[in-house]
Amino acid sequence: MLTLGVLASGRGSNFQSIIDSIESGFLDAKTAVLITDNPDAYAIERAKKHNIESLVLKPRDFADKNAYYSYIAGEFKKRGVELVILAGFMRVVGKALIEQYRNKTMNIHPALLPSFPGLHGQKQAADYSVKISGCTVHFVDEGMDTGPIIIQAAVPSYHDDTEDTLSERILKQEHRIFPYAIKLYSEGRISVKGRKVIVNVGRDDALLINPPF
Ligand code: GRF
Repeated sequence: MLTLGVLASGRGSNFQSIIDSIESGFLDAKTAVLITDNPDAYAIERAKKHNIESLVLKPRDFADKNAYYSYIAGEFKKRGVELVILAGFMRVVGKALIEQYRNKTMNIHPALLPSFPGLHGQKQAADYSVKISGCTVHFVDEGMDTGPIIIQAAVPSYHDDTEDTLSERILKQEHRIFPYAIKLYSEGRISVKGRKVIVNVGRDDALLINPPF
């Protein structure tokens, strides 16, 4: 069974989709700990409800970024975390954590990377008036949403979409592909060569554009 460590800053709906996937048996994993930088994050309530330990760690209580992410890495290691999940963690993760969990840290981004990285990916896409947008699960590297791409899902983007309407459409897909990417990882089906992620699903890889469920 795969041991997860989750980082989240806000409402935690992606965290919830992972919890639900574990509880339904879709995902053979357990969440060892939720770490948040925000004492008001609703993700904390979700953790409580499902008996998951949570820690609030504020960057300003640490000497610098390196100290902060070294400490987080230590907390994960202590609990045997094998895969780190960024479920709406609103910070660029520091080297100290990335180096400990290289190609073992996954993030979900609400746009089809490499388009529209950074904050408000959905607003950037709506303002640009692209016709297709979506979401991306990728491994985390030192850049801003630049790591190797594992899986993407596409949705239409309409001329009268607002940030909110497009976000809602994308979020539904986020809740499908994030647990799916973790499942593929837990089954040992994901390997990384440079920035190429090879996913062995035993059939046409093109299916990954829209997962088969
Ligand atoms: C999601 O849109 C995710 O793609 C982005 O941050 C948002 C988090 O939402 N990284 P939630 O906290 O999981 O509901």
